[in-house]
Amino acid sequence: MALGFLLGVFVLLSVWLKVRCADVPMASVETECRDRYLLVTTDIVAGHEPRFEAVDADGVYPITELYGAECGYMFSVLPVPGHAELRASYFSCHTDNQGDDAFSFIFNLIAADEDGEEVTYRLNETCYLPLPWSPREISCEENYMEVSVRNDMSCPFGKTEDDWTAASFTAHHDATSAWQVMFRKEGEEQFTSMSLTEARVLGYVFHLTQGRLVFRSPYSQPHSSHVTVNGTRVEVVHPILFSRQRWVVMMVDLVVACSTNEAMFDGLGLIWETPTLLSSLASSLVGLDSMQISMGVDGQLLDRPTATGRGYSLEINDVTTRLSIPFNAEGGYRHTFVMNNTYHQVYVLHLYFEQLLVDEGGVETRIRLHRPMSTPPLWQAPSVINQTVLAERIFTVYLGNITDDVYLVAVKLNGHEYTTQEANANNFNITMVQQQNSTLHGYTLRVPFDDAVVHKMYSTEGYFLYMLYINFTLAIQPQEEPFYHLMSVVAHFRDVFAPVFNAVCNTRNISFTMDHHPFDYLWEVAIGPKLLTPNLAFKHGYNMQNDSKSLTLDVPLFTVGYTYEDIHLAQFIGTFEILTRSSKTLEVARSLAKRCVFQTTELIVCSTKGVMTVVKDVTTVIQGAEPSRTSLKDSTCRPKETDDTRVLFNFSLDTCGTRVMVNYPHVVYENDIIIGQPSDSEAPVKTRPLVVTVRCEYPLSGLHKLFAYRRFEADAPGIGTMVVTEVSEKSPLTVTRPTISTTTATTTALRTTRRPLSFGKIDRYINNPQGRPTPWEKPHAIQPRTKYVRRFSWQMNNPKEQTTY
Ligand SMILES: *[C@@H]1O[C@H](CO)[C@@H](O)[C@H](O)[C@H]1NC(C)=O
Ligand SMILES: *[C@@H]1O[C@H](CO)[C@@H](O)[C@H](O)[C@H]1NC(C)=O
Ligand SMILES: *[C@@H]1O[C@H](CO)[C@@H](O)[C@H](O)[C@H]1NC(C)=O
Ligand SMILES: *[C@@H]1O[C@H](CO)[C@@H](O)[C@H](O)[C@H]1NC(C)=O
Ligand SMILES: *[C@@H]1O[C@H](CO)[C@@H](O)[C@H](O)[C@H]1NC(C)=O
Ligand SMILES: *[C@@H]1O[C@H](CO)[C@@H](O)[C@H](O)[C@H]1NC(C)=O
Ligand SMILES: *[C@@H]1O[C@H](CO)[C@@H](O)[C@H](O)[C@H]1NC(C)=O
Ligand SMILES: *[C@@H]1O[C@H](CO)[C@@H](O)[C@H](O)[C@H]1NC(C)=O
Ligand SMILES: *[C@@H]1O[C@H](CO)[C@@H](O)[C@H](O)[C@H]1NC(C)=O
Ligand SMILES: *[C@@H]1O[C@H](CO)[C@@H](O)[C@H](O)[C@H]1NC(C)=O
Ligand SMILES: *[C@@H]1O[C@H](CO)[C@@H](O)[C@H](O)[C@H]1NC(C)=O
Repeated sequence: MALGFLLGVFVLLSVWLKVRCADVPMASVETECRDRYLLVTTDIVAGHEPRFEAVDADGVYPITELYGAECGYMFSVLPVPGHAELRASYFSCHTDNQGDDAFSFIFNLIAADEDGEEVTYRLNETCYLPLPWSPREISCEENYMEVSVRNDMSCPFGKTEDDWTAASFTAHHDATSAWQVMFRKEGEEQFTSMSLTEARVLGYVFHLTQGRLVFRSPYSQPHSSHVTVNGTRVEVVHPILFSRQRWVVMMVDLVVACSTNEAMFDGLGLIWETPTLLSSLASSLVGLDSMQISMGVDGQLLDRPTATGRGYSLEINDVTTRLSIPFNAEGGYRHTFVMNNTYHQVYVLHLYFEQLLVDEGGVETRIRLHRPMSTPPLWQAPSVINQTVLAERIFTVYLGNITDDVYLVAVKLNGHEYTTQEANANNFNITMVQQQNSTLHGYTLRVPFDDAVVHKMYSTEGYFLYMLYINFTLAIQPQEEPFYHLMSVVAHFRDVFAPVFNAVCNTRNISFTMDHHPFDYLWEVAIGPKLLTPNLAFKHGYNMQNDSKSLTLDVPLFTVGYTYEDIHLAQFIGTFEILTRSSKTLEVARSLAKRCVFQTTELIVCSTKGVMTVVKDVTTVIQGAEPSRTSLKDSTCRPKETDDTRVLFNFSLDTCGTRVMVNYPHVVYENDIIIGQPSDSEAPVKTRPLVVTVRCEYPLSGLHKLFAYRRFEADAPGIGTMVVTEVSEKSPLTVTRPTISTTTATTTALRTTRRPLSFGKIDRYINNPQGRPTPWEKPHAIQPRTKYVRRFSWQMNNPKEQTTY
């Protein structure tokens, strides 16, 4: 037999083509002799794809996609394990085949060096057949189909059938001494014959070695048939070689059939099916019994226990053989990436499949198949669970279903970004949780409601919202590729209202209590216009206790903030009002004015309406004094109530001879309680007459209504004092003794001595300066208020032996 152009003597030339050679970097290139091919693997240098050239005595042949498919080279770049590999069939075009036992390969590897420069490395390797040849071997590579048969089998398999007869007829008709080929195509009766040269041009390679006849074809050639066998796709190429040798026409039937079924992903794993028998495909495949089916990965078979241990399964029935490989099982590779801000993964497996078939005569056919298979991009979204318990007042969010190669880098809480470390250093808590019975994990994030980062919203209808927008930053390792997951949580409270005070009347004070609630900070406590603070409480003499549970405020009688009414010798009513107002708008939300009845002892009350009320035990000033015989400066002003020891006066500040003085920045109203001496008194007491000077002091600034509307209406009650004063000998006070009780006399005396002003007069002075000057005042007194105040400051009393009640 002579197979035309393919038969040649390999002559080793001593001169190689010009190549920039370098030492092969041993670490990055590996070669390995496998059953039927040489495997060369090399690392990929980022940004550069390596290339191979086949080298033989005649020249250098770049291994392109097309050339590789025709000549038995399979080159691929595998990003997932991260290398490039070349599988060169022992029958590849430029291999030196020594007796079908030893195969010498020479390749140029063109790759980038450390500097990114292209360098050509020379590789040579000789493989010694690891496994004896079967009579017929079919190799279903990724890019070509190859069949080799022992060349002493002229009529190897099967029975003579009609189509074989038809082919024989064509062969007999066309045969010449040169070998020719005709392709049989499924469903076509016509055979066209061609020379082997013509066939090579079409991409078919025939090759005669010492003991075998080899045929190779790329997939999807014009003469390929695509057949569906019980739902699985098979590609068949069926060439028949023939030649006339003297009086005999020789025919060789070389069918090659490969399953081209794609793997499917059923949600759990990869499934691949192939027909168990190929009998229906060609006459030469009839009568083959499947003896043994094995599977493996990356070009190597696995024994049953290993495959089962990895979860692979193989179901064989008469019709189809079904392989299944669970997602992410050992032997495959997982590739993860971010697409559309979502974590995606692809599981890739390079299946290797081998089937041994035997015919009736015990002649073997061995089919080997390489098939890369992969799942579609599967996305795995993290899931979030809202585990917030309102009572805990902490947002608790579980971010789960995160694959083991993803970790949480940072969280953005309402726009504030924290790395996981920063979050834990702050008030937040991020803990990792391994999910049970799974390689997945999750994270628990806890953010207290009251943290400054949480948005808060209050509506006056009593609704309160805490809001947190979370943007989780996750990253895939090792490439640190980030993606984001967003969620928001809301905690909703109803019936949120201002805190409520309780008040209790005690003998000499009012006691207010308030329990603290989580939303208290929305409101503040005020006494009148002033915010209640520990400082204010101290200044005003309140007793405040504030702990985490409650606030207690004891307000002693006569401290700032009280108002009094119904004052009698027996008892009076004191009222103290406490307010809660919005911290933000200062709008009063609640007020509690507590009215309590207190026992009267002594008191002085200066009302906002300009009424002074005094209760005084006069016997403490002058022993044996008679309350019923006391009066004010104007002796017609008698006590409203008396008992054995005490008097109660209640008078308007513009009556009863009340003196008025400006002691900037205050206005002082002053009167004297003139104590009735015991009627039988001839005692020396008389020489030192004593009066009780009662005084109400109002801040000038609080009396603006007096000036504007001629009405006494102070912003706040005045401060009252009672002073026991010794009346000097020269004092004209003597005329005001109760015995002398004419108004005129009183007025005269006052005019000449102390120049009192009623508040009506102040008013006139301020508001009508050009008006009729008062007898004691000169017109030039038209001056700004400060001067006015200074002019009158000399009128101030110099109090002696002052006693404050
Ligand atoms: C192949 O390599 C061996 C040893 O590395 C060397 O002796 C031999 O000459 C090489 N062959 C070719 C064809 O380069
Ligand atoms: C397909 O399978 C059925 C049984 O499931 C069998 O009867 C039939 O012959 C098969 N077809 C081929 C083409 O093998
Ligand atoms: C990206 O995701 C959005 C929603 O998650 C979807 O509407 C959109 O179609 C996706 N785009 C692509 C290219 O997958
Ligand atoms: C994970 O995701 C599945 C559905 O994809 C869901 O049923 C399961 O509850 C999730 N588990 C967790 C812990 O989030
Ligand atoms: C975070 O929470 C876990 C569990 O609730 C707790 O054990 C841990 O101490 C907390 N860490 C910090 C920093 O608060
Ligand atoms: C985890 O697996 C164990 C045993 O495989 C099983 O007993 C247990 O119920 C599983 N737990 C969950 C939450 O699935
Ligand atoms: C989430 O955070 C990332 C990183 O800061 C940002 O690029 C992205 O726009 C954020 N997403 C949203 C919806 O705010
Ligand atoms: C989360 O949980 C809290 C408490 O159970 C609940 O009030 C809230 O409505 C939930 N949902 C969201 C989106 O925050
Ligand atoms: C208030 O009165 C109660 C009972 O009368 C008394 O126990 C308490 O000490 C008083 N508080 C103050 C601050 O005076
Ligand atoms: C009482 O104490 C709480 C903290 O426990 C504080 O928020 C509040 O302002 C205090 N109230 C007053 C009136 O000082
Ligand atoms: C004091 O006088 C005012 C008006 O002059 C009056 O309204 C008030 O009731 C009196 N009070 C007493 C205790 O008499």
